[in-house]
Parts: sequence; C-alpha cells; structure tokens
Amino acid sequence: MLFRKRDVRVGRNDPCPCGSGLKYKKCCLGKEASSPEETKERYLKDYGIRLKGKADIEGIRRAGRLAIETLNLVEQHIRSGMTTDEINTLVHEFTIQHGAKPAPLHYRGFPKSVCVSVNEEICHGIPGNRVLKEGDIANVDVTPIVDGYYADASKTFFLGTPGPEAKKIVHVARNSLKAGMAQIKPGNRIGDIGWAIQSYAEREGCSVVREFVGHGVGFEFHEPPQLPHFGQKDKGIVLVPGMVFTVEPMINLGRKELRILPDNWTAVTDDGSLSAQFEQTLLVTEDGFESLTPYDLDSPLS
Ligand code: MF3
Ligand code: CO
Ligand code: CO
Repeated sequence: MLFRKRDVRVGRNDPCPCGSGLKYKKCCLGKEASSPEETKERYLKDYGIRLKGKADIEGIRRAGRLAIETLNLVEQHIRSGMTTDEINTLVHEFTIQHGAKPAPLHYRGFPKSVCVSVNEEICHGIPGNRVLKEGDIANVDVTPIVDGYYADASKTFFLGTPGPEAKKIVHVARNSLKAGMAQIKPGNRIGDIGWAIQSYAEREGCSVVREFVGHGVGFEFHEPPQLPHFGQKDKGIVLVPGMVFTVEPMINLGRKELRILPDNWTAVTDDGSLSAQFEQTLLVTEDGFESLTPYDLDSPLS
C-alpha cells in the first residue's frame, strides 16, 4: 500500500508508514497516494483491524466520558472498610442509570459489572466480600457500552495513606501508561509502545506482566490488534489514523510471573508483590493521538 505523505511527517530514512518494512525513501516516498478507503480495507484484510470513522469515534468518545464519570464516582466513594462488591453495586447502578451496559457482566462468564483488583491482584478481580483496608491499593476497571460503543478505562486508587511500596508501584504504573501513550502517532509501530513501557518500568526496577495485553476496542470489548506492554522498537503493525486501542500496562513491584486463582479469573503476582495498572482508550489521529477516556495522568499522586 502507498502512504500519503500529507498524513504524517516521516523522515526519508524512517520505516515506511505503509508497513512494508523498507525505508520510506525505498518505498512509498514520492509515489502515488493511496486512499483512506484502501488503508481501511487492507487493515481489515491483513490484520482484522476495523479502523473507526467519524461517527464511530464520537460514539466511543461518549462511552469514554461515561467511563471517566464512573471512575470519578468510584474515587469519591472508595473507602477502607468497604467490600469490593459495594464498588460493583456503585458501578453497575451508575452505568444502568445512564442508559449504558457494563461490558464485563457475563462477558465469557465473568459474574460482575466491574473488575476490582487489590494489592497483589494484577487484574480481573471479581468483586465480593474482600474488605478494603487502610494502606491497600485497588484497581477499578470499567467498560461501559453506550449505544453499542465500548470504552475501556481503569485507575488504581489508594485506600487511606499509602506506604512507600504502594506509592512506588502506582507511580510507576501510571508513568508506564504515559510512556506508552507518548509513542502513539501514525508511522510508529505497536512494538514502539511496548518497548517504551518495558524500558521505563524495568529501569525503575519493576516488571511488566506478559499474559495480558492492550487491545483494539470500540465495536467490541476486545478486537484486534493485541498490544503487548513489552517488546522491541520498530516491530509490529504500523499505527494509522482511525485505530482505537487500549494501553493498559500491568506493572509488578517484584517478579513478572502470575497465577490465576481457583475462581478462574483473578490474576495475582506469583511472588505476592504489589501490582498496579492504569488503562485508557486511545485513538490514533493524523498527527498523534487523542485519549477517548482522557482522565488526568499528571496531578501529584496523593
Ligand atoms: N477490562 C479488562 C480489559 O482491560 C477486561 C475485563 S474482562 C472481564 O481488557 F470479563 F473480566 F470483565
Ligand atoms: Co482493556
Ligand atoms: Co479494562
């Protein structure tokens, strides 16, 4: 496929944004342009990726606004002494009240409307009678469906005053998401995102979970492509405008290995160390990216 130069600033020696693996100057530079329709067809055919149009993006943005409002509500109410099931009730009722549906509920048999993952729990924690206590960290991961469109976002919260380990892992997890997001622009590749996250997190002495990845989102909960939060620069599918996917690095304070609990969902660190995660739904634009779940990632952490 030929790439239209006007879509993106790309250097002569950069990898060609068409994904051929050649340098831009050896490939599409100066040749006929291909249309957005051709790109859309090729991404579907080659990768199963459904690029999003204007109306789709508006729909996902609306779902994203509800996701943020839901996380804000959780932030206001989350307290030590509360059970994780009380967070489920909050999220479920708020979602329904807004005419939306919680995607997690009955997704592949998941029994609740939100994932709540505490301390050593990495992800997919099932809300229940676990009582949140002072000093805990808790990731709350919400995915509302609004008019058929999905937006996926999560944050890790402190319960009361965090200890040094809680502070460290939440800080590194949030900055890992930021490091990944900073790579998102047309012409960069999926591997650039994972590479940026892994090199940052490991430099901080933390580890990156391998078994769960970011994913295309919008028309469905999980669509192609998969986005590992580790990997190599200049590898993988080329990012093009209209791609919508999550970046959601799960970062462990200790080793990267995990176990799945007998409930068949909850992933926990094998070494019992703390794990934290932040997730946003991101759109590749002509000149970079736009978050469709744009909550703040810069304010001081508690
Ligand atoms: N929200 C999770 C993600 O970020 C997926 C949860 S699947 C569920 O991809 F079934 F556990 F809800
Ligand atoms: Co996700
Ligand atoms: Co999620």
